[in-house]
Amino acid sequence: MKISFIQLAPVLGDVQATIQKIERLIRHCEIADILVLPELCNSGYNFHSYEQAWETSEEVEDSVFVQYLKSKCEQFDFYIVSGFNERDKQVLYNSAILVGPQGYIGTYRKLHLFMNEKDYFKPGNLGLPVFNIGLCKIGMLVCFDWIFPEVWRILALRGAEIICHPSNLVLPGFAQRAVPIHALINRVYVVTANRIGTEGNLSFTGLSTIANPEGDVVVQASQIKEEVGLKDIDITMARDKMVTPRNDVFGDRRPREYSLLTETSVKR
Ligand code: ACM
Repeated sequence: MKISFIQLAPVLGDVQATIQKIERLIRHCEIADILVLPELCNSGYNFHSYEQAWETSEEVEDSVFVQYLKSKCEQFDFYIVSGFNERDKQVLYNSAILVGPQGYIGTYRKLHLFMNEKDYFKPGNLGLPVFNIGLCKIGMLVCFDWIFPEVWRILALRGAEIICHPSNLVLPGFAQRAVPIHALINRVYVVTANRIGTEGNLSFTGLSTIANPEGDVVVQASQIKEEVGLKDIDITMARDKMVTPRNDVFGDRRPREYSLLTETSVKR
């Protein structure tokens, strides 16, 4: 099977302009089975006010952007994971949505909010779902979630074979270094679809990445260009959790020693 990303700069507050950009690039990944787009792809990232975050948000059921993604999934018979500024009643979430040829499938809402996102979004309330699309099982994380190893592990333990990671990364190369390690220690594929460009005082770092279950970076985009990444993968690699003939990364865990991980306050 083939997995892919589009690295681009969504246009802040102009979903139609962003759709036009995607439209120019998407034909280069029409042979993919799964396509990943960046974080907050329907709205842009660096809002100047809560009002702007609100006005650029959409409800999944009533979204121009989701309709567009659905039409592309039908046309190319593939699945898309995209970052999405989601409005649910009176609340905004920094979400990732999964859409397929039959339409909308499901949502993950970002758990770990970064910097000013805390002024606009509520932390996710849908947990860490894994979706079986037949070809494989998909988990989703959004950008700054990358720094929390727990969420990668939970998705992998739930059976995720590919973790799709829409991003708007700003720290200098940190996530691009960490993502292959998360792939390696959980023996999963990871697709990080990052953005490029600047919005206000923020510059985004590109280098969108596909990493394999051995931690190899098998595709990496540039830092500055809008472009597509595509890779033919062997999904059975992500189903084999053996690192040596006698070491199963899941079976060899010692969860009884890990209870500190679920305590809410930690002494420092
Ligand atoms: C980020 O979470 N957008 C850095």
